[in-house]
Amino acid sequence: MSRSVSIYVCQNCGAETRQFFGRCTSCGEWNSIIEEKISSIIRKNATKKSSFRHSSEQKRSEPITSVKKEVIQRMSSGYKEFDNVLGGGLVPGSLVLVGGDPGIGKSTLLLQSAAAMALKETILYVTAEESAEQVRLRWNRLQGSESNLHLLAETDLDAVIDELDSLKPQVAIIDSIQALQDCNLSSGAGSVTQVRECSAALQRIAKKRNIALIIVGHVTKEGILAGPKVLEHLVDAVLTFEGDRFASHRLLRAIKNRFGATNELAVFEMEGEGLIEVKNPSELFLSNEQANGVATIMTCEGARPLAIEIQALINTTSYPNPRRTATGVESNRLHQILAVIEKNMSLALSRHDCYLAVVGGINVEEPGADLGIATAIVSSFKSIQIPSGTILIGEIGLGGQLRPVRQIHQRIQEAMRLGFTRVIIPNESKVNIIKNNNKIKILKASKINEALKLAFNN
Ligand code: TYD
Ligand code: MG
Repeated sequence: MSRSVSIYVCQNCGAETRQFFGRCTSCGEWNSIIEEKISSIIRKNATKKSSFRHSSEQKRSEPITSVKKEVIQRMSSGYKEFDNVLGGGLVPGSLVLVGGDPGIGKSTLLLQSAAAMALKETILYVTAEESAEQVRLRWNRLQGSESNLHLLAETDLDAVIDELDSLKPQVAIIDSIQALQDCNLSSGAGSVTQVRECSAALQRIAKKRNIALIIVGHVTKEGILAGPKVLEHLVDAVLTFEGDRFASHRLLRAIKNRFGATNELAVFEMEGEGLIEVKNPSELFLSNEQANGVATIMTCEGARPLAIEIQALINTTSYPNPRRTATGVESNRLHQILAVIEKNMSLALSRHDCYLAVVGGINVEEPGADLGIATAIVSSFKSIQIPSGTILIGEIGLGGQLRPVRQIHQRIQEAMRLGFTRVIIPNESKVNIIKNNNKIKILKASKINEALKLAFNN
């Protein structure tokens, strides 16, 4: 290839074109395309070819029953809650991506975890963003004891790979992948090509040396992991670390996991001496306020039920279009629930502003929250309080019907444990016999109107 050619790579979605566009034709993002020179393409093709050559001996298919059974040996991350999210611990040779907003505590979590792991294994912590001295300072702040943790302050990919090769650690942490740079590529650190190539190179060495690799990735302003979907396909598990920066609790969630269930959730609290696991997180998201527009739901994140408070404020609008704002709940869901209430209960919500917030800055994605959201809205609209001790569970269909949700049994038990006295659930829920059932009243409804009547009449 003698002609000098460039490719143009979208930094948002990773799409490649041969021509420059002001707007990415694939994801629609403006000004996200940058030019990359041919040298990187040649190198990419070269690595592709050589990897083909490695596997050139012909492979045949085999019956699934004759494939060797492999027992996965997991390593503890030092935190029981972190292990749960990983599906039981770190798997050697696997790649875990931890994403989150800057300053949320990713480095703190991983440094603490690395310190705990270093008591038993050899751990390499590659700090590409901070200097080794800064990490040492943080280490002192975390009151870290003497341990066998190895630090490497380096941004060059080759140097990191050399160190992995010679130290042969059981676990390596790369903080962060966006700061790492492959000097054979023309684009700058943090670009899609850099992130993709660096991760692929690290994955090769992790698989070869059986190292459990944890890489930190930043989140873009749109809230997706930077260097985006390309990375999510490559890694075995994607964890997100999230939370309100102004509140002290942080949520660690698995959104993809090849070695365990997704949606598992762990809650940590950021204290002066680092992150502390919260064993019973339900109480965190309850304010015990009694007011109009406040409802309590019981969501289920993975296997863990969480009681969370939802607050709604409904006001007559003074704008041409009513305002609808939702924090912690997707705004499309809010619109849908408002439309269902308006149609089924003949409430003139389209002439009212609606503000909805989930307490504690947590994101509620699960549809079982619908009934709680609807009840909070009606409670604020009619200025009637929901009697205290009530939990609302149920998904609302477009026709106003209540749909059953999964793990209803665990949710009711958690409600009972927290001292709630009434729970309103969809009619079709299959509730097994619950011990000490006289402590909690289980009320069933098949339509939203029935559920709301039950909710407000104690
Ligand atoms: P950090 O781990 O640097 O975040 P990230 O790597 O995700 O960018 O966390 C930084 C924040 O955590 C910082 O604002 C201070 C706070 N923090 C504490 O509150 N207590 C602590 O013990 C530590 C180490 C940090
Ligand atoms: Mg950091």
